[in-house]
Amino acid sequence: MIIPLFAALFSAALAVPYEEYILAPGTRTLRPVSVYQVNGTVTDAEALTGDEPNGAVFDGPSGVTFDYGKNIAGLVYLTIGETDPDQYISITFSESSLWISGERSDGTADSGLDEALWIQPSGPGVYTVPRERERGGFRYLSLAHNGTGSVEVKDVYIHFTPMPHYAEDQLRNYTGFFHCEDELINRVWYAGAYTNQMCTIDPRYGNALPFLRIINSDDNITTPVPWYNNYTITNGTSALVDGAKRDRLVWAGDMAIAVPAIVVSYNDLISVQNSLDSLFALQNASTGQLPYAGRPFSELGIYSATYHLYTLIGVSDFYLYSGDYDYLTSLWSDWKRAMAFSLSFIDSSGLMNVTSPADWLRFGMGGHNIEANSILYYTLNAGLVLADALNDTTVVQNWTSAAAGIKAAANALLWDADAGMYRDNETTTLHPQDGNSWAVVSNITDEPAKNLAISQGLRERWTPYGAPAIEAADAVSPFISGFEIQAHVRAGNATRGLELVRLQWGFMLDDPRMTNSTFIEGYSTTGELHYAPYVNDPRISHAHGWATGPTGSLTFLVAGIQLVSAGGETWLIAPSLGDLQHVHAGFSTSVGTFEVEARKEADGNGFSMSFETPEGTEGGLSVEYPACSGRMVLRDREGRCEDTVVVVESNGAQEGRIVLEGLAGGEWEVVFGCE
Ligand SMILES: *[C@@H]1O[C@H](CO)[C@@H](O)[C@H](O)[C@H]1NC(C)=O
Ligand SMILES: *[C@@H]1O[C@H](CO)[C@@H](O)[C@H](O)[C@H]1NC(C)=O
Ligand SMILES: *[C@@H]1O[C@H](CO)[C@@H](O)[C@H](O)[C@H]1NC(C)=O
Ligand SMILES: *[C@@H]1O[C@H](CO)[C@@H](O)[C@H](O)[C@H]1NC(C)=O
Ligand SMILES: *[C@@H]1O[C@H](CO)[C@@H](O)[C@H](O)[C@H]1NC(C)=O
Ligand SMILES: *[C@@H]1O[C@H](CO)[C@@H](O)[C@H](O)[C@H]1NC(C)=O
Ligand SMILES: *[C@@H]1O[C@H](CO)[C@@H](O)[C@H](O)[C@H]1NC(C)=O
Ligand SMILES: *[C@@H]1O[C@H](CO)[C@@H](O)[C@H](O)[C@H]1NC(C)=O
Ligand SMILES: *[C@@H]1O[C@H](CO)[C@@H](O)[C@H](O)[C@H]1NC(C)=O
Ligand SMILES: *[C@@H]1O[C@H](CO)[C@@H](O)[C@H](O)[C@H]1NC(C)=O
Ligand SMILES: *[C@@H]1O[C@H](CO)[C@@H](O)[C@H](O)[C@H]1NC(C)=O
Ligand SMILES: *[C@@H]1O[C@H](CO)[C@@H](O)[C@H](O)[C@H]1NC(C)=O
Repeated sequence: MIIPLFAALFSAALAVPYEEYILAPGTRTLRPVSVYQVNGTVTDAEALTGDEPNGAVFDGPSGVTFDYGKNIAGLVYLTIGETDPDQYISITFSESSLWISGERSDGTADSGLDEALWIQPSGPGVYTVPRERERGGFRYLSLAHNGTGSVEVKDVYIHFTPMPHYAEDQLRNYTGFFHCEDELINRVWYAGAYTNQMCTIDPRYGNALPFLRIINSDDNITTPVPWYNNYTITNGTSALVDGAKRDRLVWAGDMAIAVPAIVVSYNDLISVQNSLDSLFALQNASTGQLPYAGRPFSELGIYSATYHLYTLIGVSDFYLYSGDYDYLTSLWSDWKRAMAFSLSFIDSSGLMNVTSPADWLRFGMGGHNIEANSILYYTLNAGLVLADALNDTTVVQNWTSAAAGIKAAANALLWDADAGMYRDNETTTLHPQDGNSWAVVSNITDEPAKNLAISQGLRERWTPYGAPAIEAADAVSPFISGFEIQAHVRAGNATRGLELVRLQWGFMLDDPRMTNSTFIEGYSTTGELHYAPYVNDPRISHAHGWATGPTGSLTFLVAGIQLVSAGGETWLIAPSLGDLQHVHAGFSTSVGTFEVEARKEADGNGFSMSFETPEGTEGGLSVEYPACSGRMVLRDREGRCEDTVVVVESNGAQEGRIVLEGLAGGEWEVVFGCE
């Protein structure tokens, strides 16, 4: 069966395919979608919703909560009409419906709730708030009027501030798309993309950290917490930060998940570069040590062995996705100094001994930790790829033998054959989600059976709300679960990866306490919106880039469009559809456009596929072994070569993949039928 696909391929240049799923607004002026709740006497609150607002009158003590229908961000503007003297209107925000109040906003500090903003209109006119009072994430906005008298609000609108470097009519101009027959999966892909747009801010309005008290303070603030965003966190005109409401800081770990999701959806690499640069600007000149996070958090002087490495992974990812050779060259000596710093923690065991507990707010990070060592192993291999691109042979022997030493020692000292998982370190029986997921992702495992065992072991722990991160007590970490998805697919079970997306991201997208548009930072294994590392539930961020793992994985691993070398000069098309029947995905890099459409026949046997890669590139095709005997025909649609016919003799239990290499960029078609 051949499906006519190329009509879709070429229309891509004209309009964004599947545009109806994109959550980003088409204008920066946003008005409420609906009224959530009214208190006291507010005449015509509904008139303030929709695009043609009419006045509403607040009389005496009264309030309205508006719903924007999705998480948004920005500056609030009120157009005031007739007003009595001495009137006040307060403005409060909340991402979750749990923290709606006319008195306080949800939280950005360790404890307490954020203070309201106040407007005291002197007469008719448009009133706004100082720029540092932009709210980085909210779905609900409440206006409350105190005292006697009345005031007319003719309009309440938000100036949407994310993606400051994009024109208003560019916010929805995605460079990538994803579609399959499962609507939940489609919505997850697009919500991931939008979450990252929400986390892309004007760098002059980063978190000023008024108290520099972020982690686990247990004092209770009973008075409203002052908040403002006016710290310049990077150079340039846009920055990728961890969260929209909070922290509004650069964190390299978060970028390891966010950046792939950005590349496959709207390819905003300049914000990634600005954020990476802000971390290298803080590198210790003598030791090579990189900061845990960007300014002003860096003032705390905390070292994290993993986030240090994530910054290096950030450079490797940036080069892979951008092909920007000059940028790589400019950072290479700093990269090598940073790697030497990490290698200095390797002891006689062959493993790195982690001496600082800071990581993604898990507990027990230290010693010969499996997560940290897997990340180091991964980074060393990424560094060898970079060194090869740069023809730098000076590091090859050292890094190759360091990597081999880590792998051998991790398997000898940390693999627990009875559990079928790695221990956190050699003195514990805890088998962490982060380290086991990263072990598969990094290929520190030394046999495929270990990947399967880890995938199975992680699966057995799921609760109805997702995959627990037992190394962070009672927590589901959408960050670490993003690596777990990759681990299932890389272990050969894409169905299980998709199962986790539906379970965990389906909960995050559709639960009524969520924004139903962006992904939360963390929560409890029981589905409560309590995240174990924090004492203050209102503080949890509901738009966190580190929670967008499915977006990148669905395109790179499920649709299987893999960039092998910089910008996609070489590529591998390797779909792993799992239990999906039909997937259509594509994206563009500086090298050109990549697109795949793959379809399984309803009986599960035959399949067909078409793909397009840029002219002048080169790559390969990898397909899962079919369950029956038959013939696979690969056809160059440009007629540059003869059809390739692969005869598959099935023994009924085929494992592994059929790989064809040396394909020129262009349009290809693959058909397999059982015989
Ligand atoms: C509405 O009234 C409830 C109950 O008194 C209060 O908690 C809430 O803050 C009020 N909301 C607004 C917007 O005034
Ligand atoms: C209303 O709130 C403002 C700001 O907090 C305050 O100054 C004013 O006294 C309040 N008015 C009444 C009548 O409570
Ligand atoms: C975004 O796409 C729309 C519709 O195709 C187009 O009119 C607009 O010019 C694009 N905006 C930019 C900034 O490219
Ligand atoms: C803060 O509040 C919690 C819950 O009410 C309480 O258990 C804790 O003792 C308080 N901490 C301080 C420092 O007052
Ligand atoms: C940031 O905003 C706060 C609160 O408005 C203000 O006190 C402070 O001076 C501002 N800082 C800068 C650098 O603008
Ligand atoms: C901006 O760039 C300069 C020059 O490289 C650097 O010194 C400074 O730290 C950078 N600022 C930020 C916020 O990263
Ligand atoms: C080893 O792992 C356990 C469990 O995470 C942790 O409690 C312990 O502190 C770790 N050991 C070191 C040396 O960090
Ligand atoms: C790691 O280094 C610390 C600090 O130097 C030391 O106390 C600890 O024993 C080392 N851990 C291991 C597993 O060697
Ligand atoms: C690296 O070496 C290869 C083969 O020797 C050569 O073709 C290429 O130009 C070199 N690249 C650089 C950046 O020196
Ligand atoms: C790699 O080089 C570092 C110095 O940067 C050295 O301490 C280490 O022993 C070397 N490792 C190997 C495996 O050669
Ligand atoms: C993973 O490691 C094994 C050796 O343990 C190696 O055979 C295999 O090629 C590696 N896989 C990848 C994708 O690098
Ligand atoms: C793959 O995962 C699915 C869903 O968890 C499971 O039912 C199936 O047994 C797994 N397959 C293998 C080969 O482990």
